[in-house]
Amino acid sequence: MLVRITQNYDEMSRLAARIVANAARRKPDLRLGLATGETQIGMYKDLVRMRREEGLDFSRVLTFNLDEYVGLPAGHPQSLRSFMFRTFFDHVNVAAANIHIPDGSVRRNFGEYCAQYEEEIRQAGGIDLQILGIGKDGHIGFNEPTSSLVSRTRVKTLTRQTIEANRRDFAAGEEVPAAAITMGVGTILEARRILLLASGAAKSKAVARAVEGAVSAAATASALQMHGNTTLIVDREAAADLAHKDYYERAIEMTKRLTPERLE
Ligand code: F6R
Repeated sequence: MLVRITQNYDEMSRLAARIVANAARRKPDLRLGLATGETQIGMYKDLVRMRREEGLDFSRVLTFNLDEYVGLPAGHPQSLRSFMFRTFFDHVNVAAANIHIPDGSVRRNFGEYCAQYEEEIRQAGGIDLQILGIGKDGHIGFNEPTSSLVSRTRVKTLTRQTIEANRRDFAAGEEVPAAAITMGVGTILEARRILLLASGAAKSKAVARAVEGAVSAAATASALQMHGNTTLIVDREAAADLAHKDYYERAIEMTKRLTPERLE
């Protein structure tokens, strides 16, 4: 794991956007896994800016989102699909046919639907670069504590902590979804490269568990220790509980000198 510690949220966002942009320039038909949430907003903003100012081209990029709430009607403003369009897709040139977001309003068998989502990823040739955030409980996607570390796309019941964290996005008194379709930990680990972003003091314990804790379903982000090409970009507040910050900083300096392509 490479751990890059930035001064603040903006620097984290710019660095992440640059890595995504480089990947899309290197491989115009990039298979890009996407996440939603507050952490990602700055990165999307910077990618939108690069589209506008530098003509960054997404026309051949295929995207696969990690997750979607179950039970919200299509078009609900708080669906993760709406978030993605508002924040990113409405402002860049990803072709509509190339956008994949789980549909939490499907009426048919969820198991079949989730298997089909997996199949779409497989047929596309797998995910080249997967963007992740992390929950306070160490979740990635909506793989809540005790999720199998080899899990595939499926429906997950959300923890009370996650439901409460999501409540900020819903109107007062509105019902907050209690379940989501999410790529599994096993699905995520098949991505060729993973980029996890974390910002703010509220995430510092989860980041420390992910990087330095035991690999455990109790914090599914810890499974990233089993992945050979993962970079964490965390701001200083989110890095606060890491025991080996000095080592990570020295490792980044060494990587810059010896294998700089790993940072691009
Ligand atoms: C959303 C997702 C979640 C979030 C995580 C952090 O697609 O996969 O794992 O990344 O809950 O959310 P924020 O960034 O809002 O703190």
